[in-house]
Amino acid sequence: MLRTNDMKTLFVTGGAGFIGSALIRLLIAESDWRIVNIDKLTYAGNLESLADLGGNPRHVFSHTDICDRTALDELFVAHRPAGVIHLAAESHVDRSIHGPGDFIETNIKGTYMLLEAARAHWSALDAEAKGAFRFHHVSTDEVFGSLGDSGLFLETSPYQPNSPYSASKAASDHLVRAWHHTYGLPTVMTNCSNNYGPCQFPEKLIPLMIHNAVSDKPLPIYGKGDNVRDWLYVDDHARALRLVFEQGRLGETYNIGGHNEKTNLEVVDTLCTLLDKLKPRRDGKSYREQKISVADRPGHDKRYAIDAGKIQRELGWTPQESFESGMRKTVQWYLDNSVWVAHVVSGEYRQWMDRNYGDRK
Ligand code: NAD
Ligand code: TYD
Repeated sequence: MLRTNDMKTLFVTGGAGFIGSALIRLLIAESDWRIVNIDKLTYAGNLESLADLGGNPRHVFSHTDICDRTALDELFVAHRPAGVIHLAAESHVDRSIHGPGDFIETNIKGTYMLLEAARAHWSALDAEAKGAFRFHHVSTDEVFGSLGDSGLFLETSPYQPNSPYSASKAASDHLVRAWHHTYGLPTVMTNCSNNYGPCQFPEKLIPLMIHNAVSDKPLPIYGKGDNVRDWLYVDDHARALRLVFEQGRLGETYNIGGHNEKTNLEVVDTLCTLLDKLKPRRDGKSYREQKISVADRPGHDKRYAIDAGKIQRELGWTPQESFESGMRKTVQWYLDNSVWVAHVVSGEYRQWMDRNYGDRK
């Protein structure tokens, strides 16, 4: 019977992405976990987001595709982790509409491969290590479909995914549930609302609008701009993930949300007002002038909103950032980190990773 690594090793998949990198920064700063960051480095993976860690020995990067079962098995044997937090995914709804294949591959097949590799590792552990092991699957509120004008998503809300992205995440949630129910794999799951904050790839609403605004480009609002999302600052999500991973009840799911319902127009107007103050346009006009209405997204979900009462009651989590404070921090971060943005937009971030991580193994 095997023990887990004495160094308290944790696998984080997708750690070069937006939320994964925020989680790793938090864990390195505030815990003693040693992190093995498993990431394929798709277009969305950017190790420059972890540049601040320097060569911290508690962060080990592995350039690995979660669909590669052999590579996953080797990692479990080499590092003997005490748990997994699984974030690796294709994550952008518009991309899933134009090409769903990668979403099926990574989000469904990749989660299956990871579950099987984790189960093989967990089954061979001694009783104590087995009892302490956790597999935390990170998911989205989009699996619950779309709300009307009222109501909130609860953990018990029915699954009604509408986009190829949310359908692939729903499928992965069901696999995780089944692996717990059938094999007893110790799992926890979280379903979170829309995140925003530093290091988000500028294809998602908030970083795209900031980048376009300061680049004198139009701000494309889908349809009427009255779709509602419940916005959560990414560091609040990272804190919630750590809590659920360390203290959540096995087999349970927890909804995480920001108590910040905003229409897309409200979000863009807030960004424009902040930018008008922090980086006024040379012609003295407001960035709002750059807003344009474009064709709506096919199957565009109307409203998402989370009831985060369970995680608050059981684990004492509430968001620390308000929408106003989080948005101010976010806009300031993108203005202060124009090099990060320029590297992403130009593709230079791939070369930065080659220079700093060699062959990325
Ligand atoms: P992201 O697109 O920024 O990052 C995804 C990361 O996964 C990237 O580093 C990418 O290289 C990696 N990856 C993709 N395919 C892989 C594969 N086959 N093998 C290994 N690595 C692979 O995504 P994000 O916004 O950070 O989201 C992380 C997780 O959180 C996802 O599972 C997503 O569904 C979930 N989520 C996101 C949000 C949000 O608002 N962004 C909200 C709720 C839940
Ligand atoms: P997005 O950031 O892609 O997240 P999600 O689709 O997962 O909620 O989009 C957030 C909202 O913003 C969504 O209602 C679509 C809308 N949107 C625009 O209006 N214009 C844009 O250019 C983008 C990317 C999104």
